[in-house]
Amino acid sequence: MLTLSGRAPAKVNLALKILDRRPDGFHELRTIFQTISLADRLFVSYTPRGPAAVKLTCDEPELAGVGNLAARAAEALLHSGPWKGRVSIDLRKKIPVGAGLGGGSSDAGAVLLALRRLLKPAPPGPILWEVAAQLGSDVPFFLLGGTAVGVSRGEEAYPLPDRPREWMLILAPNIRISTPEAYREFDDLRPRTLTAASNRPIINGLCASISVSGQRGERDRAEGLPSRFENDFESVVFQRYPDLEEWKNRLVGLGAGCAMLSGSGSALFGTFPSRSQAVRARTSLGEFPGRVFVVATLSRRSYRRIWNR
Ligand code: C5P
Repeated sequence: MLTLSGRAPAKVNLALKILDRRPDGFHELRTIFQTISLADRLFVSYTPRGPAAVKLTCDEPELAGVGNLAARAAEALLHSGPWKGRVSIDLRKKIPVGAGLGGGSSDAGAVLLALRRLLKPAPPGPILWEVAAQLGSDVPFFLLGGTAVGVSRGEEAYPLPDRPREWMLILAPNIRISTPEAYREFDDLRPRTLTAASNRPIINGLCASISVSGQRGERDRAEGLPSRFENDFESVVFQRYPDLEEWKNRLVGLGAGCAMLSGSGSALFGTFPSRSQAVRARTSLGEFPGRVFVVATLSRRSYRRIWNR
């Protein structure tokens, strides 16, 4: 039996723009993903003998079993080629569930990256990407890590150059938000004004928005670029949970360069130029009803080292 262990880092969305609902029910998405240092830990073991079989244990019992996306990733990969044998996954959770931090997707991505090392012959890249995209819209990004643009339903991910490290305070309230429900509410609440024809300016705008330092720039807005860091889900999620908007404003008040919801929530993040400023903000935050983490952005360079050792 061979075992590999490594971290499965969370992500935040530095920007997220929802376009039209597509005929397949998904929404066209334009987003910027960013991995962060908050991470689950996985132990992935492989025994090449016997028929294909997967099991998953977890320190959070409700997440154990073959229904977990990480187990489904192993199952799907084994069945996509000539591979047989037993895969055992032991998952230690740290990333809050239903928070928009991509924990489940990252665990699935980590299993694919581990099995790429463990299976013989090694699964080719295109198979990994195909399996990842079938598992979920965010999973392919976790084959890359670092900073990346996500288009289509999010599953087409393109790497962007690593950015300088930033520190973040993550506020993960005791609220689980269902992503499909958040999309449904978005459809109900927002007129659909954007079309596929405006794709390119949106991507340009998002890329520009993450390289612009400082606060919202009048110049960017005048040029039709989105302001730095925007997430379309905020409109629906803040309507349902007004306290979250207050916490976001509190992060800004504590000096966050930018504060925003991640994905469809419920977690918020605020960016700070140094760890000490993030720690100071946590101290001044007061009693937050949930979990609070001080984290750093994680570059693609560091991300790749996790499973490529
Ligand atoms: O792909 P994933 O499994 O993460 O998507 C969960 C659900 O979120 C989908 O079934 C769909 O309802 C919604 N979704 C969407 N548009 C996307 C991504 C997800 O409508 N781009």
